[in-house]
Amino acid sequence: MPSFQPIGVFDSGYGGLTVLKEIVAKLPQHDFIYLGDNARAPYGTRSFESVYKYTLECVEWFFKMGCPLVVLACNTASAKALRTIQQNDLPRINPANRVLGVIRPTSEIIGTFSQTNQVGILATKGTVQSNSYPIEIDKFFPSVNVFQQACPMWVPLIENNEHNNAGADYFVHEYIEKLLQQSADIDTILLACTHYPLIKNKIAEQIPSTIKIISQGEIVAESLVDYLHRHPEIENRCSKNGELIFYTTDSTKDFDNKASIFYGKNVQSKHLAL
Ligand code: DGL
Repeated sequence: MPSFQPIGVFDSGYGGLTVLKEIVAKLPQHDFIYLGDNARAPYGTRSFESVYKYTLECVEWFFKMGCPLVVLACNTASAKALRTIQQNDLPRINPANRVLGVIRPTSEIIGTFSQTNQVGILATKGTVQSNSYPIEIDKFFPSVNVFQQACPMWVPLIENNEHNNAGADYFVHEYIEKLLQQSADIDTILLACTHYPLIKNKIAEQIPSTIKIISQGEIVAESLVDYLHRHPEIENRCSKNGELIFYTTDSTKDFDNKASIFYGKNVQSKHLAL
């Protein structure tokens, strides 16, 4: 077996780093490659065709780098590209490899946080329009009502590190208000975009303290650990030297400057030209 067979972790930009951080904490021996497709981010307002094409291109690159398993740590890519890649592309490109997303593991557990069975979802336009969350959550929690709100300004604000400025408060307030207007009984809000944990505190300031705000990092990491236990054929192919490599499709200088806000540590990235 080649000595470097890392787990691939993918996002359109920096958001997936909030998931990677939790995964690495749970699987410190494993090797990882992170790829942020920053040159083409944000994905959230792009068409199905574009998100699918970009995500597939990145998944194929991960496979060329030796990854037996890729985690799409991006809700938009999970909503718009994952199923097609799993069903149509994997059998053709590499049937032994696996690609997982973030929507299913989150949907499997989100209902357990709510007492009122009224769950709010904050996500990109693409994730909301795909209706993936209502469909998936209904499979596990049929009595839960799901209310969705697209937040198209949040990823651009966060990617540009403008989210702590006063101007950002307007958009944080606007989308939360629109979500809470849909039901007075929402007691759980899911941050269904991996960028949003960066504004968790800002969101908390705008909602009653009785509403729980759930981010996905730990949920996805926990679910990956469980997946590897249940799939030794994949787990045995993952190399374990504790190595972690970062790639971006845009400027490495920009990536290295901003990535620490999401990852919590300094990183040094390499450039990938796609
Ligand atoms: N972080 C990604 C997500 O979870 C999307 C960001 C984007 O719009 O590119 O949905």
